[in-house]
Amino acid sequence: MKSKKIQLFVFSFILIISPLLGGLNNVYAKDIPPVYVHLSWQNDTLTTMTISWKTSEETSSIVQYGIQDVLENEVTGEDALWHAVELTNLQSNTIYKYRVGDGETWCRELTFKTGNSESAHFIAWGDSRTFRDERVKIVEAVSKINYDFSVFDGDMVEAGRETVQWYRWLSDFGPAIQKNPFMPVLGNHEKNHSNYYKVFALPGREEFYSFNYGPVHFVALHTCVEDYGGSLDEQAEWLRNDLEAHSEYPWKIVVQHRPPYSSSVRYYRNETEDLLTTLVPIYEEYGVDMVIAGHDHWYERLEKNNVSYVVAGASGAPLYSLIPAYSINESIIAESVYHAIYIETYDNQLAFHAFRGDYTTIDKFYINKVVKPDLRVESLPLNYYFNKSETKDITITIANVGEVDITEETSARIETFNNTHWDITVPALDVGEAFNYTFEWTAPDYGTYACSVILDTENQIDEVVELNNNQTFFFYAIEEIDESSFLFDGMMGLLGVFSILLVLTLVNKRWEKKRT
Ligand SMILES: [Fe+2]
Repeated sequence: MKSKKIQLFVFSFILIISPLLGGLNNVYAKDIPPVYVHLSWQNDTLTTMTISWKTSEETSSIVQYGIQDVLENEVTGEDALWHAVELTNLQSNTIYKYRVGDGETWCRELTFKTGNSESAHFIAWGDSRTFRDERVKIVEAVSKINYDFSVFDGDMVEAGRETVQWYRWLSDFGPAIQKNPFMPVLGNHEKNHSNYYKVFALPGREEFYSFNYGPVHFVALHTCVEDYGGSLDEQAEWLRNDLEAHSEYPWKIVVQHRPPYSSSVRYYRNETEDLLTTLVPIYEEYGVDMVIAGHDHWYERLEKNNVSYVVAGASGAPLYSLIPAYSINESIIAESVYHAIYIETYDNQLAFHAFRGDYTTIDKFYINKVVKPDLRVESLPLNYYFNKSETKDITITIANVGEVDITEETSARIETFNNTHWDITVPALDVGEAFNYTFEWTAPDYGTYACSVILDTENQIDEVVELNNNQTFFFYAIEEIDESSFLFDGMMGLLGVFSILLVLTLVNKRWEKKRT
């Protein structure tokens, strides 16, 4: 009797567990396309792109890519489970189509865009660990914005050693990292684990690195080295040399996990002391414009000695309560809410926009390097997505974001594909004043459509405007929602439920049989 019970238990256990195990295997079975495809840079952002992905077993690493519909180029990397292939000699500011695979099985066709030397439109975010539903909402919002790449200030996952957490993270972040390069830094939760280096292909020694995009020199630091008995001294020396070597860049932005300044209990416990004494003097000496960090799970902007310090620490981690008593002198604005930041940089100007998951604004400000009038098209509605054939009102805001009043009218033109255009007259605008213009646009079919806004078409005002006066946006008209690579997860989950029901039925039948 006892052995029959054991048999029944073993049978039930196998029945429950087998589809789940089968699920894990099948997700990566040979005939299943590569998963977790994502982009980054290891070298020049104008002419290279690194594509990473994962397969179930070691396979060859092939990328096919091209500018037109034909993927006429092919690069083969090393055989791997975690693949990373760098494409080189690309044309700058160009959209490429690509797919990855082993020569037989391929992912669907995706796109990427190479960097440009004029401007940088990027997302900054951090701390996505813990709540998947919250981070999925932020990823969804970000993935509908027209941006070039994103920087991420660490704590992507709860525990860096847990590979399954990386699978979930890659799955959740897929829409934002498949078509836009993703440049992260290590947080304390990654624990500098080898998984981080398997997932991401980054410049130089990867633990800390720098890269250039448009007018910006970016530095990515690892500020949690002391957790492992290390010190920041090595990075401080490297940082000095790196900033010295890139002094010609108009903008210098540092991304790191721990914030030197923050209205948090950590600041009051002197836990940021090492950052304040080791790194902050270098930021100030070498003219770093902005330091983007996370670790405190909220949004905050602070200002100290001409450096903007941003805490972008909530894209999924449990929100922290802001305690008014802890608010420090440097703090300008703070809110405990899930968010991301959209930053546009040109040679003379940086436009900053922190927003919640529903695109409402938390914080907006500009940094101007030149004291001149400056007319600027503010970000169009952040969500540029249309359904096929949908008509929407698009409102463009043109603002004087410079430091001098504009006393005359300015001519401007909006152009979309097909030579459709709207000529508009922008009234005289004092500093900080804005003018709204609304036009109606219908997405003719699904696809990507460019829309340019040209300000000051008759060159009535200052050279700063001439530098910044032509902005191109893209509208995306969609027909269907992308299929998920992780359909199998759902299917296997269902099979698991069916198995449990089957076992319960069998047990019930056996119990009834016993009773009779
Ligand atoms: Fe952290």
